[in-house]
Amino acid sequence: MIELSSVAAAFLILGAATVHAATKVSKADFGKTPDGAAVEIFTLTNEHGLEARICTYGGAVVSLKTPDKNGQMADIVQGFDSVDGYLNPKEPYFGALIGRYGNRIGHAQFTLDGKVYHLPANDGANTLHGGDKGFDKVVWTPRQLPDGGLELTYISKDGDEGFPGTLKAVVVYHLTSANELKIDYTATTDKDTVVNLTNHSYWNLKGAGNGLILDHILTLHASKFTPVDSGLIPTGELKPVAGTPFDFTKPTAIGGRIDQNDEQLKLGHGYDHNFVIDRTGSGMTLCARVEESTTGRVMEVETTEPAVQFYTGNFLDGTLKAKGGHVYPFRAALCLETQHYPDSPNHPSFPTTELKPGQTYKTTTLYRFSVKK
Ligand code: GLA
Repeated sequence: MIELSSVAAAFLILGAATVHAATKVSKADFGKTPDGAAVEIFTLTNEHGLEARICTYGGAVVSLKTPDKNGQMADIVQGFDSVDGYLNPKEPYFGALIGRYGNRIGHAQFTLDGKVYHLPANDGANTLHGGDKGFDKVVWTPRQLPDGGLELTYISKDGDEGFPGTLKAVVVYHLTSANELKIDYTATTDKDTVVNLTNHSYWNLKGAGNGLILDHILTLHASKFTPVDSGLIPTGELKPVAGTPFDFTKPTAIGGRIDQNDEQLKLGHGYDHNFVIDRTGSGMTLCARVEESTTGRVMEVETTEPAVQFYTGNFLDGTLKAKGGHVYPFRAALCLETQHYPDSPNHPSFPTTELKPGQTYKTTTLYRFSVKK
C-alpha cells in the first residue's frame, strides 16, 4: 500500500511538473506583523516572463508584471513595498484575499437557522469585507505546490468576527503558461455558516501609479445589476442595465458616463456595484474584458461566480505612499471582484452563500493577460 501510494504520488508530481514546469517560484522575507509574525513574499514567474508576487499577509497580490504591445513590462496592480503599508488601518484591501464575506452585510447582522449573528459594523452600520479583521488582515500559511502553484491556508475560528463555524479556507494561486493568474478558492466548515471569498486587486493596465482608469475600455457580460441604497446595500432588485450608464455589454470607456446625473452612480461615487453575470450554466465563463489603448494591454476575467463587483477606486485619495513612491489618486484603478451578491444572507432570493458541514465551497477566477497591437 505504502509503495503503491508513493508511486502514484511520484506520477502525480511528474505529471504536474510537465504541465507547469516553466513556473519558477522563489520566496523572500516581507517583514513582520506588530505581534511579531513573519510575513513572506513568493514570486511566481512563468515561461513568458510574467511575474506575480504574493505575500502571506492577506494573501495579497503585491505586484503583477505583464508586457505591453512593445514588450515593455509594467506592474499593473496597486500595492506596497513591504508589509508595513498593508498594516495601515486606512489601507483599502490592495490585492488582498477577502473573507469570510466579500462586500457588505447590511446592518452588520444576518439570520441563519433561526439564529441572529452579529458582526462588527466597520462601514457605517454595515459589515464590509469580513469585519474588523477580515482575511486580508491575517497571515496565511503557505505551501509551494509541485506544479508551481502557491497554496495559502487560513483557519478561521468558530465565532471569528461573529461568523459561526470553524472555517478552513484554502486558496491556490497559479501563474499559468497561458498568461493567467488563476485563483482557486475552497472552504469547509464544521457548523452552518455563510462564505463569500474574493480577491481585491486594483488594476491599472497603464501600470499602477501611471494615471487614471477612466479611458480603459470595459466590457461586462452582465445585463443586470443590483442597485444599492445609501449604505451600498442591495435593495433586492435586479435591474436591467439597458439604457443606463451601467450598460457595459458592449466595449465602453469607463469614464464616459461615470459623472452622469444618475442616482446609482451618485450613491457609489462612481461605479461600486454588483453586476450579475450572464451565464448559460455553471462553470467558468468570461465576465469582463478590459483594454487600454496606449499600452495595448488586455485583461479578461473568467469565473465560476454568479456576479462581479465593479469598483472604480472611488475611495482612493492619493494619500497612501505606495510601491516605488507612487500615490494612487481618485479612480487610479479598477477592481473586478468576482463574488456572490453583497448581503446575500439577508436576501433569500439571491443565490445562497450558505455552507454546511460536509460541503465544500469551491470557486475559481482567472485574470488572463494579452496585448492588442
Ligand atoms: C469594495 C467596496 C467598496 C470599497 C472597496 C474598498 O469594492 O464595494 O465600496 O469598500 O471595496 O475600499
